[in-house]
Amino acid sequence: MNEPMLALYADHLAVALARSEATLERHRLDALILDAGDAVARSRFDDQWFAYRPAAHFAWWLPLHAPGSCLLLRPGRRPTLYWHDPQSYWEAPPPPSHHGFAAHMDVHLARQAVALHAETATGRAAVVGESEARARALAPNAAWNPPDLVADLDAARTLKTPYEIACLAEANARAARGHDHLRQLFAAGSQSELDLHLDYLRATWQDDAETPYKNIVALDAHAATLHHIAYGRGAPAGASSSLLVDAGATCHGYHADITRTWVRGSGEAADRFRALVRAVDDLQQQLCDAIAIGTPYEALHDRAHLLVGEALRQVGLVHASAEAAVAKEVTFAFFPHGLGHSLGLQTHDVGCARIRPRSDNPWLRNTSTIAEGQVFTIEPGIYFIEGLLGPLRACEAGRVVDWRLVESLRPFGGVRIEDDVVVDAARGHLNLTRAVLPEGGGNAR
Ligand code: GLY
Ligand code: MN
Repeated sequence: MNEPMLALYADHLAVALARSEATLERHRLDALILDAGDAVARSRFDDQWFAYRPAAHFAWWLPLHAPGSCLLLRPGRRPTLYWHDPQSYWEAPPPPSHHGFAAHMDVHLARQAVALHAETATGRAAVVGESEARARALAPNAAWNPPDLVADLDAARTLKTPYEIACLAEANARAARGHDHLRQLFAAGSQSELDLHLDYLRATWQDDAETPYKNIVALDAHAATLHHIAYGRGAPAGASSSLLVDAGATCHGYHADITRTWVRGSGEAADRFRALVRAVDDLQQQLCDAIAIGTPYEALHDRAHLLVGEALRQVGLVHASAEAAVAKEVTFAFFPHGLGHSLGLQTHDVGCARIRPRSDNPWLRNTSTIAEGQVFTIEPGIYFIEGLLGPLRACEAGRVVDWRLVESLRPFGGVRIEDDVVVDAARGHLNLTRAVLPEGGGNAR
């Protein structure tokens, strides 16, 4: 990490400390242990493990892959890192990408699993971490994951520091290289989904286990599955086709989450689908421009439904006003997921989802009031999903749909366009994704 980033990281730690001190005080805690977690077993019936990923509460402080470690926070004291380094000859975690943290905390290198009985014997203590058994071993008298405390710690991460925004920007730059590469491959050839997935990993120089989430790579009708990860191994059959890629990258633990949709080929259906992609790209940008501090994110989601209704009318899929299409839940059948979610050390950063969404927005993962420093995605889509369109076709509300056009576009699956944006007081928002990947989708070239 270069000097300016190290300086930003030091400022970030100061913010983390101030927010954590306030949380300790609110919960009247004398000690809080943040557990880095351990690798998770793939199955209870054998001895294989998923690749380790540090818990977000711990990763907020430390860019350190050290399973079994923990951070101890006490009011008015320097944080103490218990860095577990068992010197195993089976597996060794990667070295930290920098040691900037050493100046800001006490560091104990622990060869054995630590127990913090003395540090937590008096007063109120809590452990936040994945495993109750580990929490008990660390501090038997401490509370484990009190829900209000966990929610407050999650909320403390929603307003990103300049260091976090720099990490998210770099993660976007890395992911953009993969998206651009796949657009070119798709324009030029006929790779399978598995080929495209592997090419994305190479272009972004990531191992599969390092990606923030499993790459979603969907050719043609597969794009109607929102999270299509069962990669096909055959090349697309027809002359016209579509590619939806929803894939990210990480930087110091921070996630990028980007979706692009590309169209290839000629003919009336391909041209209509291209127009649909352009319409979604356009409405996605309108939604980014509508970001305003102090308004509920859910209002943006509602606006997305109106704009989707308008796009469906424009391309001729629905013969009704946008308002009528929303009121009769026609837009929900084409756009059945939430507009977006908070983004950070988790792809679906949970701090902005403390309140349940309205029952008509069951999948909305951001129910916060928009505030400066939040980072979230804006990801509208329009899909041809038989499980949702079938019931619509069978009912009165479905009469406004041009089902012949639906049939001709069904082979293209659907379109989603997703950017990562920072809420900014002066400019409304900064689009981390368009800064490095200006096109949202359209014709693959
Ligand atoms: N990128 C996948 C999702 O947001 O669910
Ligand atoms: Mn997303």
